[in-house]
Amino acid sequence: MPALAAVRAANAAFSPAYFPVAVFVGGTSGIGRACAEAFARYTQGNAHIIIVGRNKSAADEIIASFPKPTRPEAKHEFVPCDVFLMRNIEATTTALRERLPKINFLVLSPGLANLRGRDETVEGIDKRLGLHYYARWKFVYDLLPLLRKAKDAGEDAKVMSILAAAFGGPISLDNLGLKKSYSIPKAHLTAPTYTDLMFEHHVQENPDLAFIHICPGGVATPILSSNRWVLRQIIALLNAFAIAPEECAEYMLYALFQTKQGFSRRSQRGDDIGKLRYFGSDEKREPVWEHSKEEIDRALAVEIDQLAS
Ligand SMILES: *[C@@H]1O[C@H](CO)[C@@H](O)[C@H](O)[C@H]1NC(C)=O
Repeated sequence: MPALAAVRAANAAFSPAYFPVAVFVGGTSGIGRACAEAFARYTQGNAHIIIVGRNKSAADEIIASFPKPTRPEAKHEFVPCDVFLMRNIEATTTALRERLPKINFLVLSPGLANLRGRDETVEGIDKRLGLHYYARWKFVYDLLPLLRKAKDAGEDAKVMSILAAAFGGPISLDNLGLKKSYSIPKAHLTAPTYTDLMFEHHVQENPDLAFIHICPGGVATPILSSNRWVLRQIIALLNAFAIAPEECAEYMLYALFQTKQGFSRRSQRGDDIGKLRYFGSDEKREPVWEHSKEEIDRALAVEIDQLAS
């Protein structure tokens, strides 16, 4: 386990020969926000940083705090998107594909911690599984061509999902999407395993890209402090002490910068944990992939009454 000072030193050495483009989905609060801020700091603001989320005033505040860049091509922007709906993600990724030449880093961290059971959006996707898995699936799938362009130009191309590597559980192909049987713990155990399988699928087709599934550990983010019970649950579950988002972000960026290529599962301190508490299998990978694709296509096809939406 690298010490925080060593992690900071390693991150400070990040000095790419290319001009970096980074997208932070869920970057308006918590760990995502801290990661975007640390990334801006380590690039001295000399990057194209895109924060995707719902809260514009938070985004404005974050962007205003970034170091002032010296390079003319630098840009810091907020892209509003309510990622609960697959059609919103589709609109956002389509627009990004039209105007961005490439993406070097795609960091995904939208989260939900409440005590509601299955709770579906108007598209029929459970909100918890949606934020932790389907929304992220769609961002990665849709933006892969832009990551591919970065890699083909000899640059970094990395995707990181900040979720719960090594804290997933067994999944059942008879209960895909937990449509037959749902519970909050089951949802929290399913999304990480689906994430492992999703990244393994991508790595087969793009072995030179990096896909990182990391566990943030117990972090004192607004999501947690807003609900003490959830905070206690998660801390007990992860057997970790809550640390400040700023500190957590150092480890997250460390994992992002240090993973060269392939699929890497990382602990809350940035260590590669290999297949520790891994619940995927070759037999389950493609059925879960097909399910994800079909589920998102189904959601996109749902006709929503203008008033109801
Ligand atoms: C949006 O962000 C601002 C500034 O950080 C915060 O005060 C506000 O509570 C946030 N709104 C929501 C709905 O989360």
